[in-house]
Amino acid sequence: MDIMNTAALITGGASGMGAATARLLSKQGAKVALLDLNVSDGEKIAKEIGGIAISCDVTNSESVEKAISTAQAKHGAARICVNCAGIVHGKRMIGKDGPMPLSEFERVIQINLIGTFNVMRLAAAAMIPLTTIGEERGIIINTASVAAYEGQIGQTAYSASKGGVVALTLPAARELAQFGVRVMTIAPGLVDTPMFSKITPESREALYASVPFPHRLAKPEEYAHLVQHIIENAMLNGEVIRLDGALRMAPR
Ligand SMILES: NC(=O)c1ccc[n+]([C@@H]2O[C@H](COP(=O)([O-])OP(=O)(O)OC[C@H]3O[C@@H](n4cnc5c(N)ncnc54)[C@H](O)[C@@H]3O)[C@@H](O)[C@H]2O)c1
Repeated sequence: MDIMNTAALITGGASGMGAATARLLSKQGAKVALLDLNVSDGEKIAKEIGGIAISCDVTNSESVEKAISTAQAKHGAARICVNCAGIVHGKRMIGKDGPMPLSEFERVIQINLIGTFNVMRLAAAAMIPLTTIGEERGIIINTASVAAYEGQIGQTAYSASKGGVVALTLPAARELAQFGVRVMTIAPGLVDTPMFSKITPESREALYASVPFPHRLAKPEEYAHLVQHIIENAMLNGEVIRLDGALRMAPR
């Protein structure tokens, strides 16, 4: 799929990997709409790249419907949708104060998994009526995590939410194949974003010490480059790509 002049929706576009993707895609000529709860940071980035920022809660059906139609009115229908909105969560299932409150588990699943599905289903529905360009109508790229495969102690909720994103990739790609819409997922390892900086300096150091090569955190721009390649390479479909420098997370 060509990026030039193509409308793109990026959830979580106000920060981290979403913001880096917004910058790169707009440099390549995409018309970018940033869908984020944090509309003030979204507006700063939108201003910088000549895109638009739309206040949106990915967990809410009406909010996403409204955001997609606002973006469409401004840029035309989006053929690119990148799902970066998400939250990190770390807490033992059974902690010092007893079992993890069920509401915490529900919240992580609600944002990371249901939010991704919500945006995917509405973005895909808006792509299906479009004419094909070449062989394609559109592309949806979701964001999982290596925690989907090697969740650490304290990551039951986060790993379950990202495991769900990994699991829905193939059936969604199979279902949307008849419409010429691809679905891909990126599973990043450790990426230097505001989300990662919420972790204590000690755990931060311990975590990236375990990245074999390159022996460092990934840059959000490296995620954005992979998004660009996935958009441009039509044979990539129904797959999850790890972006992790060969990292395999230890139990703790
Ligand atoms: N940073 C890492 O090391 C890392 C590793 C693996 C996976 N991930 C995943 O990558 C994605 C992007 O992470 P990041 O590091 O760029 O994070 P980030 O915190 O920098 O950005 C996440 C953005 O999502 C937005 N957001 C949160 N809840 C939302 C909601 N309900 N509706 C709309 N927007 C919402 C936030 O406002 C924020 O702007 C997340 O899904 C995260 O789980 C991050």
